[in-house]
Amino acid sequence: MLAHLSMLKKYTVGVIGAGNMGEALIRGMLNSEQTVPVRIVASSRNAAKLRRLKTLYGIRTTNFNSAVVDICDIVLLAVKPQDMADVCTEIAPHLKREQLVISIAAGITLKKLHRILGAKAKLVRAMPNTPALIDYGVTAIFASPSVKENEMQLAEEIFGAVGISFRIAKEKDMDPITALSGTGPAYVYEIIDSLTCAGKKLGLNEQLAKELVMHTIIGAAKMVMQTGEDPKELWKKVASKRGTTVAAFDVLRKRNFSKILQDAVRAAANRSRELGRIK
Ligand SMILES: NC(=O)c1ccc[n+]([C@@H]2O[C@H](COP(=O)([O-])OP(=O)(O)OC[C@H]3O[C@@H](n4cnc5c(N)ncnc54)[C@H](OP(=O)(O)O)[C@@H]3O)[C@@H](O)[C@H]2O)c1
Repeated sequence: MLAHLSMLKKYTVGVIGAGNMGEALIRGMLNSEQTVPVRIVASSRNAAKLRRLKTLYGIRTTNFNSAVVDICDIVLLAVKPQDMADVCTEIAPHLKREQLVISIAAGITLKKLHRILGAKAKLVRAMPNTPALIDYGVTAIFASPSVKENEMQLAEEIFGAVGISFRIAKEKDMDPITALSGTGPAYVYEIIDSLTCAGKKLGLNEQLAKELVMHTIIGAAKMVMQTGEDPKELWKKVASKRGTTVAAFDVLRKRNFSKILQDAVRAAANRSRELGRIK
């Protein structure tokens, strides 16, 4: 989104739990000029971390989560899922009806958040992924019915600052999304590592093998995006009769590579659902 279209500048954003994801969002909002340092307040339990954030980004910091809620229009909850209940209980008495609360905690449902923060709280649940650290994140966003269109746009601005975001219509889609894009970078890292290892075993220098693999993955993803073609059709264009691709896929298909990946994603989605059920 273009900086001059930013609505975010008019609001103060508080980041509770400025760890990896929280800091990525702070850096993204500032680098993209969606907002200015004075409009961001971060909290953490760690004073040294807060000093570093203040020096690096010029933002305001506090070690009181309640102070963040007292002075911010938008409260971003970026603590680990296991710390969410305590943090929500701590901030609930300070929360005002008009404040927007955005949670990025995996598996924590809006129902759970409403239970602590109140039935009428304006809540948004988001699932980003770690490439947000380098502005290539993918985030799915879902809101409770009390959230208005302009508030949803504010949430989109925040996550748009670190990549691309998608609104979703059903909260239950968060589980497959967590399995696909939340966990997704890990599948790709495993593939990069395995292919690099294969190249090395075939006599290539490790660094060269890794570079070849990484650029191939970027190139293939861009081919799908830019041509709009079905990956199965693009596959056919790589695979010539009795060629190398066919030889490779004789092995992959015999061992059910596609099914293995699908089973893995299903297991991740089931785990996300399970985590959501834990009290
Ligand atoms: N990493 C991912 O791939 C990913 C993807 C999607 C969503 N998420 C979600 O993003 C959230 C943050 O993940 P992360 O990877 O950024 O974790 P992280 O680096 O551990 O950040 C969490 C931060 O919360 C702080 N914290 C803990 N308790 C606190 C409290 N009571 N008050 C204030 N701050 C507190 C921690 O700092 P101190 O302990 O020093 O206070 C830490 O800096 C998680 O809920 C996770 O589910 C992560």
